Amino acid sequence: MGRVQDKVALVTGGASGIGLSSATLLAKEGAKVVIADFNVDGAKEAAERIKAEGGEAVGIFLDAGDENSIKEAVEFTVEQYGKITVLYNNVGSTNLQKDLDVVNMDLNEWDRLMNLNLKSVLLGSRFAIPHMIKSGGGSIINTASMAGFFGDSIRAAYGASKAGVVNLTRYIAAQYGKNHIRCNAVAPGLILTPAAKNNMPPDVLDIFAKYNALPYHGEPDDIGNTVLFLASDESKFITGQTIQVEGGHYIANPTSPDFEEFMKKS
Ligand SMILES: NC(=O)c1ccc[n+]([C@@H]2O[C@H](COP(=O)([O-])OP(=O)(O)OC[C@H]3O[C@@H](n4cnc5c(N)ncnc54)[C@H](O)[C@@H]3O)[C@@H](O)[C@H]2O)c1
Repeated sequence: MGRVQDKVALVTGGASGIGLSSATLLAKEGAKVVIADFNVDGAKEAAERIKAEGGEAVGIFLDAGDENSIKEAVEFTVEQYGKITVLYNNVGSTNLQKDLDVVNMDLNEWDRLMNLNLKSVLLGSRFAIPHMIKSGGGSIINTASMAGFFGDSIRAAYGASKAGVVNLTRYIAAQYGKNHIRCNAVAPGLILTPAAKNNMPPDVLDIFAKYNALPYHGEPDDIGNTVLFLASDESKFITGQTIQVEGGHYIANPTSPDFEEFMKKS
């Protein structure tokens, strides 16, 4: 008996990185999984790999920036497997070239990120909740980010959209808890997804490593395992929370390294 046996999960952005890890782990633990992604070939390949390992999955196209496409993905899930009991709203995007400081950011990028990172969570939940209520409840999980908790020199739109995800998570939890629907989020720190590995120069990875409390970087499965826990009944009394999975990167006083240097010198 798997940890999420017979649950039906829709995972958005499931063809790569965090979504792929989560879909794979959910299927391994007995869930039927719909992998929905802009990269439909990647979604289908992921589903085939899951099936080859004895799991149950199907890959479909999704544009999480489009209301109808999200609705279709939810409806497809219910038609395919009879219900939807886990919704993982995972798609999110960032843009280091256009999402800058408040004065200089591209306002179209602000709108794009709010739509893709935040409104997609609202819409996925809006379409899935009535089905969850019909089948007795469910678990909604959202991907936030540690960028939603702190200010930074760039990426104001990304940070604001992810902060929105953190509080929308509480609203969904507050509004539908009595219907046996839980809603939680996971806030990753830097996770070495293929995209992060390709885009980040080694020097930048070293900067992140320097501030982690733990001596290693995060991997997609660190998030996938958290998602699995939140999808399962093991977390049945947890709702409205955002679990920070970030290697202790943000736990220390930010002046600590400077203070350590100062103490060495004095
Ligand atoms: N990797 C990190 O360090 C990190 C840190 C914090 C938060 N996050 C968040 O984690 C989530 C997943 O990121 P990842 O690192 O796994 O990224 P990734 O690029 O590895 O995977 C993202 C997936 O989403 C799909 N996608 C992109 N736009 C889409 C759209 N409009 N509709 C449907 N699918 C779309 C892509 O095709 C891809 O398969 C995002 O919300 C991201 O903001 C990641």
